[in-house]
Amino acid sequence: MQESQSISNEKPLLAVLRGETRRVPPLWLMRQAGRFLPEYRELRARSGSFLEFCYAPAAAAEATLQPIRRFGFDAAILFSDILVVPDALGQKVKFETGHGPRLAPLEAEEAPLSKLSETIDLQKLAPVFETIERVKSALPRETAFIGFCGAPWTVASYMIAGHGTPDQAPARLFAFRRPEVFEALIARLVEASVSYLTRQIDAGVEVVQIFDSWAGVLPPTQFQRWVFEPLREIVARVKQARPGALVIAFPRGAGAHLKHCVEGLGADAIGLDTSADPLGAVRDAQNRVALQGNLDPLALLAGGAALEREAASILAALENQRHIFNLGHGVLPQTPIAHVEALVRQVREGRS
Ligand code: CP3
Repeated sequence: MQESQSISNEKPLLAVLRGETRRVPPLWLMRQAGRFLPEYRELRARSGSFLEFCYAPAAAAEATLQPIRRFGFDAAILFSDILVVPDALGQKVKFETGHGPRLAPLEAEEAPLSKLSETIDLQKLAPVFETIERVKSALPRETAFIGFCGAPWTVASYMIAGHGTPDQAPARLFAFRRPEVFEALIARLVEASVSYLTRQIDAGVEVVQIFDSWAGVLPPTQFQRWVFEPLREIVARVKQARPGALVIAFPRGAGAHLKHCVEGLGADAIGLDTSADPLGAVRDAQNRVALQGNLDPLALLAGGAALEREAASILAALENQRHIFNLGHGVLPQTPIAHVEALVRQVREGRS
């Protein structure tokens, strides 16, 4: 079969999610809208608090579009944050410069669930949906649009501790001590995530990604319950509610559970983190799902020969597969623009 016959005119990212392979993989970067861009820093400086920025449709749409204008990536990702969900469940959330997120910690509460509303307040998130509408009308024809949420385990880990921790110890401890309460919190976050993602799709995103950034810290006995099952349920319910919806799951650090995730989550693509072996993932996936990733963000920061070698090795491992080129985690704020430009050239034109 000639390659040209099997290539549709679809946006490249959507084509790969729907089952095609492309000689040049579609490319975008997690955290592509952010502090490594001078135009982002400038916009951020005049946008008030980080949450105000997330809820300001004109500014958030601009931040979403900045990396597309500069690099021509194959996908834009909505500028927002995973912690708008606790905010819309009634938990106090703020971001402190230099310290990251600060939430009123649930671990300190006698009855944590009573501190939250039963259902997510989508009205509060109306500015996010307006951002989506604005971006949609401004995106180039070939650029796909990705919405997202955090996975229940990852979002719960911030809700319990009230801030980021290196190993999510407060949430892991809470889940051992009060499994019924934790189960109820996860169930509430599953409901909230399904409603939120469905509404994002209605507003105009074409793909949704679920970030389970802290999936890798759980013991095997806990992974199934707090990572796998909630992710599987969200994927199934979003697809049931909106047939044809495209979903990328990113269980960062899944390690030995990666095969189980590839085979069982029901997602259209699995995000590979930096430590995942792409060849192993190819064997697990058998092209039944697309694979996204997985350049080390530090290789992008380093640039030069190291970047070129690392990118080449990923391109080779995933050649002729359903591959979406990305990092294994987010772009680091210190990353030079020139390194991103070199990566784009290498992926697109096979040269650096
Ligand atoms: O470009 C994009 O990827 C879209 C926007 C986006 C942000 N956060 C913007 C942001 C996305 C997809 C996220 C997801 C997110 N947020 C995750 C999952 C992905 C991951 O990185 O693991 C997590 C765990 C969060 C929670 C969060 N938000 C933390 C821990 C922090 C502080 C650390 C940091 O990077 O500053 C944030 C703040 C945040 N979210 C910033 C940005 C651009 C920086 C804040 C600023 O500009 O002042």
